[in-house]
Order: sequence, then C-alpha cells, then structure tokens
Amino acid sequence: MPRITVTVDGITYQEDVEPRLLLVHLLRDRLGKTGTPIGCDTGNCGACTVMLDGMSVKSCSVLAVQADGNDVVTIEGLAHGNEWHPMQKAFHEEHALQCGYCTPGMIMAAIDLLRDDPDPSEETVREGLEGNLCRCTGYCNIVRAVRRGAREMSQRSMPEQAEQTEREVRTP
Ligand code: FES
Ligand code: FES
Repeated sequence: MPRITVTVDGITYQEDVEPRLLLVHLLRDRLGKTGTPIGCDTGNCGACTVMLDGMSVKSCSVLAVQADGNDVVTIEGLAHGNEWHPMQKAFHEEHALQCGYCTPGMIMAAIDLLRDDPDPSEETVREGLEGNLCRCTGYCNIVRAVRRGAREMSQRSMPEQAEQTEREVRTP
C-alpha cells in the first residue's frame, strides 16, 4: 500500500492508502475533515471542492495518492482562529445558504475564481461557479456573496500590499 505525505489545513500527515482511495474519503474518513461533504460522488455537484496546491478540485475526482507531497486546504482551514475568511463572512452576511450542503464547495470554488479575476462581474461569477450546484438558494444571494467577498478580500489585501511595498523600498 503506498504511503503518502500530505499537508491538510496546515498539518502534515503520513498515511498508508489504497491506490483507489479518493481524496474526499481520505479527508473525511481518515482525517476527520467532515466539513467537506459528498453530494454526488461523480464529479457533478461540486460539494466536495477543496484547494489542492492553491487550485480548486473536486475531491471525489482526485485520488489520495495524487495529493502526495501536496498542500490541501479544506473549508475547515480557511478561518484564522475565530476570524472567518472574508468569503465565509460574505456568505453569512448575504444569506447565501439554506441547507448549507453546497456551501463549503461554493466558497472554495469562489476563492479560486478570484485568482483570475479579483473583481468579477455577476456573469463571471455565474460562469465560474457553474460546476457547483445548489438545490436551495436560486443562486442570487450566492452571486452577491461572492462579489462582496471579492471586494472585502481586495480591501484586506491592500494594507498587506502597502506593507510589502514599504518593506521593499526600505530594503535596497
Ligand atoms: S461529491 Fe464531488 S462533485 Fe459531487
Ligand atoms: S444551500 Fe442547500 S444545496 Fe445550496
């Protein structure tokens, strides 16, 4: 049985895994990351979306061995202590969920789509999230939440960018 080393939400694990074990089962059944739900198990709903080396993937479509040596972030690794990630906060504030089953995957996919477009239009958000299905909300509040989260993320990163520029200027 192959042994893999994988970092999940900042903690590094070594696990002996069956070659056919899916990443979502490693996360949920072995590492206790039950915040990542399984909706369809066939790559259609997006509920199981996590970040693998900074890119969103449907973890029911990835083998655990493919995560060997890589970094996985789940919905449980987004908050800093008691402080929610701005995208989590935006979903809460815009009431972008009802049953919440799709929400972890939606949030991970939303953060990923901002890598290409930090200020997405409604259309871009709808296109970017087309692989994530919601049975409850009708999507309007989700789209609003993603755009709000995007604005809050860019405002939050501005002081960080200014700080970095200041450091670069000071360090010849
Ligand atoms: S459970 Fe993975 S896409 Fe539906
Ligand atoms: S909130 Fe229920 S599936 Fe999206």
